[in-house]
Amino acid sequence: MNSTVLNIKNVKKSFKGNEVLKDVNITLKQGSVYALLGANGAGKSTLLKIVTGLLNSDGGKVTIQDIDVANNPVLAQKLFSFSSQNTTVDGVLTGYENLYLIAKLRHERNSRKVTESLLEKFDLTEAKDKAVSNYSGGMRRRLDLAMSLVGNPEIIFLDEPTTGLDPNSRQELWNMIKEMKSQGKTIFLTTQYLEEADYLADQIGFLREGKIVASGTPDEMKRIAGADKLLLVFNRNQDAEKALKLLESYSPIKNADFEISIDLDKEIQTTLNVLNALTTEKINLKTFKMTTPTLDDVFMTLSKG
Ligand SMILES: Nc1ncnc2c1ncn2[C@@H]1O[C@H](COP(=O)(O)OP(=O)(O)OP(=O)(O)O)[C@@H](O)[C@H]1O
Ligand SMILES: [Mg+2]
Repeated sequence: MNSTVLNIKNVKKSFKGNEVLKDVNITLKQGSVYALLGANGAGKSTLLKIVTGLLNSDGGKVTIQDIDVANNPVLAQKLFSFSSQNTTVDGVLTGYENLYLIAKLRHERNSRKVTESLLEKFDLTEAKDKAVSNYSGGMRRRLDLAMSLVGNPEIIFLDEPTTGLDPNSRQELWNMIKEMKSQGKTIFLTTQYLEEADYLADQIGFLREGKIVASGTPDEMKRIAGADKLLLVFNRNQDAEKALKLLESYSPIKNADFEISIDLDKEIQTTLNVLNALTTEKINLKTFKMTTPTLDDVFMTLSKG
């Protein structure tokens, strides 16, 4: 466990002089979930295509369990599955047929049994004989995810697995991804949803201008946008002004009329001390709130460059 299963080193790619990937470096530990974030056109799909051997890079190297993907695509492909941004399920075929076909292609010994059990697991048994063109977006994505598990791959690449899904379907898919992780699978996904990265990922990378400009755990990433804050709201502006003087040693910032914020270091103690000081001086508070930066704040901070 915990060995490196994927190593992306100095990967570059240009399209007709347009340098999309300048120098991308990512390593992935076995059993972890990595979320690659980036704006539209940042190059997320391009990177996934290179990593899975569908596209040649202009430089650098990708190894999956020490197998060079560019040199040994057939061998490498046994170790992973790739669910692309535009679902690859065939609309004319039924759910059953799609899965069965993949199981046959991946030389599953008991293709029927594998198909049946995946349909069951992804809640598609009832719809198994319907043409996929009649499936909802959520059902297609579930089928897509089921297909990515055929052949028991070590690593699962998912390009925007929940784009366009309603909140319930998204939560369902998240649960399924968590379950894959709990079974020891390594998952590399791209997403536009910061909430998704926050919920699923052990490690996050931000791709911007062809490079990973920041990476870390969700909590580490949030630190990029600053500290936790204590927000104090007063009924009267003159109370806010008084508090500003009283709390000078905490370097308070006046956000707006009636409102002050303080960076928190030792969270509970600072909060208690501040509230005590206000009570002692009989400065009335309307309300207070402790806030942690969100990944949205990080995205904004990093986008500003
Ligand atoms: N085959 C291609 N030929 C020319 N340009 C391409 C090709 N594929 C991608 N690009 C360009 O490379 C850039 C990155 O595209 P890519 O699809 O990798 O971005 P993305 O991060 O996946 O975006 P999205 O979030 O919209 O899916 C874009 O400017 C795109 O136009
Ligand atoms: Mg994409």
